[in-house]
Amino acid sequence: MDERIKSGISGFDQLIGSGIVKNTVTVLYGSPGAGKSIFCTSFLRQGLKDGEKVFYISLEQDIDSFLREADTLGFSEFRKELNSNFIFTKMTGHDFKNFLSIELPKILESRRDKHSRVVIDPLTPFIWEVKDIAIQRNVLGDTFNLLKKFGTAVVTIERYGDMNKLELMEDVAIPIYLSDSAVLMSMVYNQNFYQKTISILKMRFSSHSAGMHPFDITDTGMKIFQDQPVF
Ligand SMILES: Nc1ncnc2c1ncn2[C@@H]1O[C@H](COP(=O)(O)OP(=O)(O)O)[C@@H](O)[C@H]1O
Ligand SMILES: [Mg+2]
Repeated sequence: MDERIKSGISGFDQLIGSGIVKNTVTVLYGSPGAGKSIFCTSFLRQGLKDGEKVFYISLEQDIDSFLREADTLGFSEFRKELNSNFIFTKMTGHDFKNFLSIELPKILESRRDKHSRVVIDPLTPFIWEVKDIAIQRNVLGDTFNLLKKFGTAVVTIERYGDMNKLELMEDVAIPIYLSDSAVLMSMVYNQNFYQKTISILKMRFSSHSAGMHPFDITDTGMKIFQDQPVF
């Protein structure tokens, strides 16, 4: 039986059996504001609670903005563990290909001895920069293999277009193809408001929910209502 770890997201583990299978890469994709970064923060916080080393590789926000959000959610572990069990790296510059191939292995090397959680949030600038899908496939294939060697990873991608359709657009095709698991976070419009929802497209080694599940983000984090219909 595959070993699993707690996701740290209330209601998520029940949708996928009993937690995320260790040494896998999950691609989390969805519209801006859907809650992808909060999912990642909750996932890493669980790692800190469980005594793991956690890495947040940001291609977007800096450490101050990250800690400010963590404080808002009451996730005090990040400030306490910064630079010990919590390693934050802001990817600067525009050479994302070089970053993933050369810098990322060096960053992860600092923790070879135990299971780590790694987040790349978001991978989108790399996809924008590297249009050639053969290069995307090579670089991301190597990156995902590296991530799996070190632990369990979540990689996010911003997705634009019709969020109510599961159809895969070109921007997410290669990462999803290379991933072990793919999770879509979308907003469904009904009667003047947007409900945040989460759906599992694929989850290797797991029997998972085929439903679209509503969730809320509150001051204490994310909560999925696994037994409720979206409307
Ligand atoms: N304290 C909070 N209470 C309610 N909703 C919140 C709170 N903090 C964040 N949110 C919601 O989460 C969204 C941001 O989530 P985020 O994870 O940054 O999205 P993404 O990374 O997918 O763009 C906000 O637009 C808001 O809807
Ligand atoms: Mg985000």
